[in-house]
Amino acid sequence: MDKNNLPEFSVLPEHIGIIMDGNGRWAKQRNLPRYKGHIEGAKTFRKIGEFAADIGIKCLTFYAFSTENWKRPQEEVNAIMELFREYLREADERSAENEEKGITLRFIGDKNGIPEDIANLMDHIEKISSDKSKVILNIAINYGGRHEIAQAVRAIAEKVKNGEMNVDDIDENAISEHLYTKGMPDPDLIIRPSGECRLSNFLTYQSAYSELWFSDVLWPDFKEEDLVAALREFERRNRRFGGV
Ligand code: IPE
Ligand code: IPE
Ligand code: MG
Repeated sequence: MDKNNLPEFSVLPEHIGIIMDGNGRWAKQRNLPRYKGHIEGAKTFRKIGEFAADIGIKCLTFYAFSTENWKRPQEEVNAIMELFREYLREADERSAENEEKGITLRFIGDKNGIPEDIANLMDHIEKISSDKSKVILNIAINYGGRHEIAQAVRAIAEKVKNGEMNVDDIDENAISEHLYTKGMPDPDLIIRPSGECRLSNFLTYQSAYSELWFSDVLWPDFKEEDLVAALREFERRNRRFGGV
């Protein structure tokens, strides 16, 4: 899409979550091994992330690998981890460019369990990226919504035990503040391509009032136009949050 002729919207979500699904089926349709689908999916991620930032989305969360995805064949998991490595090295090399564009990279999920060199790269990139930027780009790796809630409960219980927090202080806000997304707005819109109409453990606590948008397009085929279609639909939605 032409950068000088970007679409405009009457209302934009502050935070969009995207479940990048359908890589395997995309490869299967072409008689290719599944990892080829992940390679294409990684390209789509770069393209859509950049486009979303260009049109003014302030916070984006891409679901890249769930706590359940370890169940996949070792070969496929290894191929996905290798793609993360490549992306992270590239992000490290391009950190100055991201800084200039005002993009901050953050990772959500449990870093324990991820190969150590990848977890170290993630820490390094988070350390060098500014927290004063215009756009937050979260990548969810080894992320599970229930796992995230369990670790928040543990952290809160620990504080209560140490006398840093009272039981009465435990409210919805306190829970939010112990999630990986602390300080970020809840996702206004969650997009899932590939024809599946479920959240698969994505942003379980944060998605309570998210608008959901599903599409049959497989993630590697997802285009800027598909994001625009989701945003046009979002413009038409009437969010009531329980009110009238
Ligand atoms: C999403 O695509 C990528 C990950 C979950 C890592 P899939 O690999 O789930 O693709 P399908 O659903 O099998 O087509
Ligand atoms: C959700 O996709 C996880 C990611 C996209 C990272 P899955 O392909 O793992 O979800 P299910 O198994 O179809 O629910
Ligand atoms: Mg899938």
